[in-house]
Order: sequence, then structure tokens, then C-alpha cells
Amino acid sequence: MTEMPYTPTPEEQDALRRIRDRLGPKGWVDDPETLAPWLIDSRNVYEGRCLGMAKPATTQEVSDILAIAYEAGIQIVPQGGNTSRVGGATPDPSGRQLLINLGRMNAVRDIDAANYTMTVEAGCILKDLQDKAESADRLFPLSLGAEGSCQIGGNLASNAGGINVLRYGNARDLVLGLEAVLPDGRVWNGLRRLRKDNTGYDLKQLFLGSEGTLCIITAAVLKLFPLPKERAAALVALSDLDAAVTLLEQARTASADALMSFELMPGFALDWAERHVEGAKQPFDTTYDWTVLLEIGGTRADGSAGQALEGLLERAYEDGHIVDAVLPQSEEQRSQIWFLREAIVDAQVREGAQVKHDVSVPVSRVPDFIRQANAAVIEMMPGIRPYPFGHVGDGNIHYNLSQPVDMAAADFATHREALQRRVHDVALSLDGSISAEHGIGLSKREEMLRCKSDVELETMRALKNLFDPKGLMNPGKTIPAARAETK
Ligand code: MLT
Ligand code: ZN
Repeated sequence: MTEMPYTPTPEEQDALRRIRDRLGPKGWVDDPETLAPWLIDSRNVYEGRCLGMAKPATTQEVSDILAIAYEAGIQIVPQGGNTSRVGGATPDPSGRQLLINLGRMNAVRDIDAANYTMTVEAGCILKDLQDKAESADRLFPLSLGAEGSCQIGGNLASNAGGINVLRYGNARDLVLGLEAVLPDGRVWNGLRRLRKDNTGYDLKQLFLGSEGTLCIITAAVLKLFPLPKERAAALVALSDLDAAVTLLEQARTASADALMSFELMPGFALDWAERHVEGAKQPFDTTYDWTVLLEIGGTRADGSAGQALEGLLERAYEDGHIVDAVLPQSEEQRSQIWFLREAIVDAQVREGAQVKHDVSVPVSRVPDFIRQANAAVIEMMPGIRPYPFGHVGDGNIHYNLSQPVDMAAADFATHREALQRRVHDVALSLDGSISAEHGIGLSKREEMLRCKSDVELETMRALKNLFDPKGLMNPGKTIPAARAETK
């Protein structure tokens, strides 16, 4: 039986009409076909409905929408490029929530090259911002698989990570100032371009990573860096897993800490990428157990980054930490190796059902984590195929699991929660986190009850209540209900 769509109350209808009038036709979407892709998350796990999608073009419009919605008690789901891996930007199935998509707020308001900053609006596509910074001979280092479609507002709201965190930090480390609209429509203009501003509580850090539950981020002042003048990359095969940590230490030293990326990939993931993803080519003749893609950024275009890398790899080969290496000789070859790294994510999807993880542990404990997690999941389900890869340079492993070849995908899915709990337990026992860069959203919300203390959760709820006393901002995301209420 098809469920009837939700009929808004007269008060809600009046509020929606005022919002539509305020935004005009370009700022309102309610045709089901256009809405459909925005109602499903990037992993096709969650599907919701909504009252419509508001597309404001200015901070004032965001403020006006929120003020109207607040008065009428309408729940809000903020959305950027809809690339969340944890269902953080998907409305619930009730049909009573209003989507606010920031895509039209896509201006770069200012680039101050001498101050190494760029002031941007929330709806700017991440890749466009990287390009914009580069055109001013600067680097904006946030870089991740979805960069061609994700928006900076979402990146900041979810404190995104990616492949350069090792050297430049997470999204929250790349922000000097923020502009945000509070649930009742008040605008907080914190667009300061200062590296030193020690004036009380740092509100922006509270809003960064709050996943749309406290406010809507509308603009930010981003930190820029000197643009690397050369990049030297290599794909190496390790002698064993422990060599990843040794090589990482040596690479940081040999490059004078100019190491930008250090990505771990199991050798068979390269084979899967070649098999399933057009254009992906695994460069080794053999399937090694473990490979690492590392990249050094040089501040001079004089080949010194390449020399540092070659020296490092020669020593690592002599010391027995690596057994093979491919060094791209052109920009095209370098892109191919990075394409392979990206391709392993899609390749796994083609190998059947998967259970994804995004854990972190102290870098020195990554090998122990992988070994212990492998033993745990194989004990639970012989035949399961662990597929751990990721940003080992900052301790963040996507400890993904692929179904046993002879198991039905639906059967595998019934074990999802138990497997996730077991993997999270291993990470927590090694002083790790259950979410390194993807956030909490819907998919990890209940795990917060197991990994956060009462004090931490109560403080989060108190803050939520302070900013959003009516509970209208991205309800149900990130913060679990109190333990007694979850029975
Ligand atoms: C990656 O590092 O490739 C991504 O975070 C993995 C993913 O999108 O699931
Ligand atoms: Zn990642």
C-alpha cells in the first residue's frame, strides 16, 4: 500500500507560501522528479521525503527562511552536495521536513593572497575552491573523492577529512572565520580573517562538525597555503603491514615534513579496481599484500621533492621495508595512480554487499588494529573479505568488509550491526574513534551511546538545546536520545 503524502497543517502551509514568495521560482523546488536525487543519501541506504526544497541565494534569505520555519515549528534539513556517507543530509520519511539546499550560494567573496585566506559561500563546490586558490598561487588543501560535487558548507558542517589531513589537518583546522544562521534566523557574522583571536569561547569550532544540528553555515574564511611547486608521488609495495608505520616515520623525516599523503591499499584492492573500474590499471606484475601511495609536496620546482622521495625509497628498499615501487614520470602517470586510489572505493561496491567503517586509531597502532579486526570478523564469519584501506598517515582506516562470495547479500546485511559493533570495539580498545572523517549522521548515531560518556553526551544535548530549543535543526542526526528513552 502506498503511504499518503503528508498534508501540511494550515500554519505550515502559510509558512511554506511565505518562504516560496520570499525566494521566488528559482529558490523553490517541489517537483518530485527534480527532488528525487536529493531525498536519497550517497550510499543509497536512507530515503526520505520532504515538504519541498528551498534554495536560498543569500545569507539574508537563509535567515528569513529559518525565521519563518522557526515560528511555524517546521523541521529543517540543511543540504550541500548530498555526498554524506552517514545519511547526515537526508530528510526522514515523514514528509514533514524542509530541505534547505545551499547550492545557489556559491560566490567566492574574497581572496586575500597576502593574508593566505579566501572568504567563500557555503554552496561552493570544493574542487572549484581548490582551482580558485591555485589561480592565486595558493593551495586550499582539503581534498577528497567527492570533491567534484561536495560543497564547502557540508565539508565544514561535517568536518571532512580526505587525503591531505596528515599535513594540513581536517576541515576544522582550515577555517579562520565563519558565518552561520541560527535556528531562529539570527545571523552570526564571525567572518574574521585572523590567525590570532583569543576572545572567549571559539563558537566556530562548535559549529564546525555539528552536522547541521545547531545552525546552517553560510560562509567561511578558509586558510590557504603556499602552492606546492612540485609533487613527487610513488606507489610502493610493503614488505609487511608494520612497514607502513616505519615508512611513514621515515618519509616525514626525509621530506622535512612535506609529506602530503600516505594512503594504504591492500594489493588485491588494486586488482579489484582494474577488474571493475574502467581506466584503472594496477601497475605491479604481482598482487602484493600491502601497498602505499605516498606523495611529497615541494616548495621549489627544482626536483628536490623527487630526490627526497627517491632517497627515501632506496633506503627503505635496502632496509627491507619495501619490496617494489612505481614512480610516476609524468603528471599523467601521477593522476593514474591517484585514479587507482579513488577507484578502489567503487571497485568494492561491485564485489557485492559491503559493510563500511571509518575508524581511526593512533598511527602507531594501525597494524595492530587491522590484525585484531581481521581476526575478530573472520572468527564471526569465515569467508568474509576484509578490505581495509585509507589514510594511514593520520590513523584513519576505512576498515570495509565485503561479503563472502558464497553468501547472499541480504544474509550478509543481517550481520551488519554485529560486525560494526565488533570492529568499533577493536578500534575503541586501541584508543580509537568510530568515526574519523565521515561523521555520525544517522548511521552511527546509536553507536555514540557506546563510545561517549554520559558527561559528554549530556553536554552535547545541553548545547543542542541551547541553540535549538525547539529541536528543529536536522532532527534525529548525530546525537542519540538519552539512554532511558532508547528502550
Ligand atoms: C575514501 O577515503 O576513499 C572515502 O572516505 C571512502 C568512502 O567514501 O567511503
Ligand atoms: Zn576517506
